[in-house]
Amino acid sequence: MKKVCPTEFTIQPHNHWNNKWFILAAGDYEAGDFNAMTVAWGGMGTMWGKPFVTIVVRPARHTYSFIEKYPTFTLCSFPEIYKKQLVLMGSRSGRSHDKISDCGLTTMASTNVAAPSFKQADLILECKKIYWDDLKPENFLDPSIHEKYPEKDYHRMYFGEILSIWENK
Ligand SMILES: Cc1cc2nc3c(=O)[nH]c(=O)nc-3n(C[C@H](O)[C@H](O)[C@H](O)COP(=O)(O)O)c2cc1C
Repeated sequence: MKKVCPTEFTIQPHNHWNNKWFILAAGDYEAGDFNAMTVAWGGMGTMWGKPFVTIVVRPARHTYSFIEKYPTFTLCSFPEIYKKQLVLMGSRSGRSHDKISDCGLTTMASTNVAAPSFKQADLILECKKIYWDDLKPENFLDPSIHEKYPEKDYHRMYFGEILSIWENK
């Protein structure tokens, strides 16, 4: 993997989030206390002069308790051959299964954050939480957004400052 400076980093953000997806991992790798799940809604850019990502996590996710408890997280994306693994990581909960081992992905220590990364990833963003807020239905300006929340389980949004980018192009 090659370390990439945020000012040199190029990506097709909508295509990457919407079609390639990421695995979000939160917790502490050394302590063996972490979880991970697939995410496809989010963004990236600049906030307060820092390179940053936005992620949104529904409170029912097991990963939510880790993102709440720990200060850092990673976003990893993978070559196309791992699509099945990403589907599995996004359809089973780590609360009841060791889904990471079940799908054959391997966690490893990150370089700058306690949250784990994945050996099979071809892009790793190591991030530190800098802001959170809850999405508020009264602020939805497009009525169709309500359809995404039949159970009214509105996401919590986090901004993460990007501390390191690793890429294997
Ligand atoms: C393609 C895809 C994208 C997803 N994106 C998100 C997301 O952005 N936010 C979210 O809260 N859940 C998202 N999910 C759902 C979680 O990945 C899923 O509920 C997962 O099983 C939660 O695992 P956990 O309980 O171990 O945290 C997505 C699922 C898939 C398949």
